[in-house]
Amino acid sequence: MKIAIGSDHAGFEQKAALAPWLAEEGHEVLDFGPANEDRVDYPDYAYRVAMAVADGRAERGVLVCGTGLGMAMGANKVPGVRAAAVQTPEFAELARAHNDANVLCLSGRFVDLDVNEELCRVFLSTPFEGGRHEGRVAKLDRGCLVEPRVRVVNHPLVAHKLSILRSEDTPTKLFRELVRELALFLGYEATRDFPLEDVQVTTPLETFTAQRVAGKKVAVVPILRAGLGMVDGLLMLIPSAKVGHIGMYRDHETHEPHEYYCKLPEDVDQRTCLVVDPMLATGGSAAMAIGYLREQGVQDVRLLSIVAAPEGLEAVMAADPAVRIFTCSIDRGLNDDAYILPGLGDAGDRIFGTL
Ligand code: PRP
Ligand code: URA
Repeated sequence: MKIAIGSDHAGFEQKAALAPWLAEEGHEVLDFGPANEDRVDYPDYAYRVAMAVADGRAERGVLVCGTGLGMAMGANKVPGVRAAAVQTPEFAELARAHNDANVLCLSGRFVDLDVNEELCRVFLSTPFEGGRHEGRVAKLDRGCLVEPRVRVVNHPLVAHKLSILRSEDTPTKLFRELVRELALFLGYEATRDFPLEDVQVTTPLETFTAQRVAGKKVAVVPILRAGLGMVDGLLMLIPSAKVGHIGMYRDHETHEPHEYYCKLPEDVDQRTCLVVDPMLATGGSAAMAIGYLREQGVQDVRLLSIVAAPEGLEAVMAADPAVRIFTCSIDRGLNDDAYILPGLGDAGDRIFGTL
């Protein structure tokens, strides 16, 4: 069998012994390094070995680090790889028979070489049982189909723009522009799963099959006032969207939201609603707005907030078990006045210059 092997510095000594031993056992060994005991980072070697297994250069992989755990975490990031950190022959057998593991991750610091040799022997000689395990392994390979409910937009330009937005020295005009731009980034992420359909397009050179968004109907729903600052960014992305408005203000003493205005598109129940508000603090305003949309029959609600407090995220998710939330940052928490820390102050006042 073709075996890819690799280690970090902590697993180097055992890898150096296992490679020739595997060859003596009749396997063809591809050694992905390292070549000496110098300190290295285990993910680098986990990826090399895992890639060799994933692209078929090797049938199985063997990785050795201090515990075997980091190697398994790294190797499992490569699609098609099922890596198991194993310390007993029983686990080596089950990793093959039930999980169809293709990479064995060993501990060079806590398990003796003769035991690791035995683990290799079992791992390399045990077939996959198939049967009831087949569907489960297929699910492992497909990955998690459940979208995380909170997505933080992780992009250098978002971090850069947000740092300027937060600064107390940023003037109103620039603040507004940044809110619009960050809304665009949030919208980009929040629409990532919109379905596409094939269309024929004729370029000046030829006709070919291109893809367009398959008739998704969208409503952008700003929570007034501050949410208004995000609308233009979203409309740049989705010019055909309709805009509904929900007016709310927080009572300064109780921090409870109060609704004062609401106007939604007539067919709002057939639209994906992108609720926009730069700040998610206690979550009271967003939860109330989302609750109202649900009462109108809206199925698909997504909340886009530039800055979110953990308290607000929890409150909104508890109030609505299906809403998905997109944010540029999850901040530390709230102060006694329910303002987000470090936050950016009062978003509405900064957008409209009413400080
Ligand atoms: C701000 C913000 C949110 C709300 C967030 O609005 O724009 O709507 O507070 O707080 P919460 O999560 O604790 O409900 P504010 O009430 O200050 O009104 P404004 O937009 O008119 O300034
Ligand atoms: N509303 C804001 O505008 N800012 C906060 O920090 C909290 C609520």
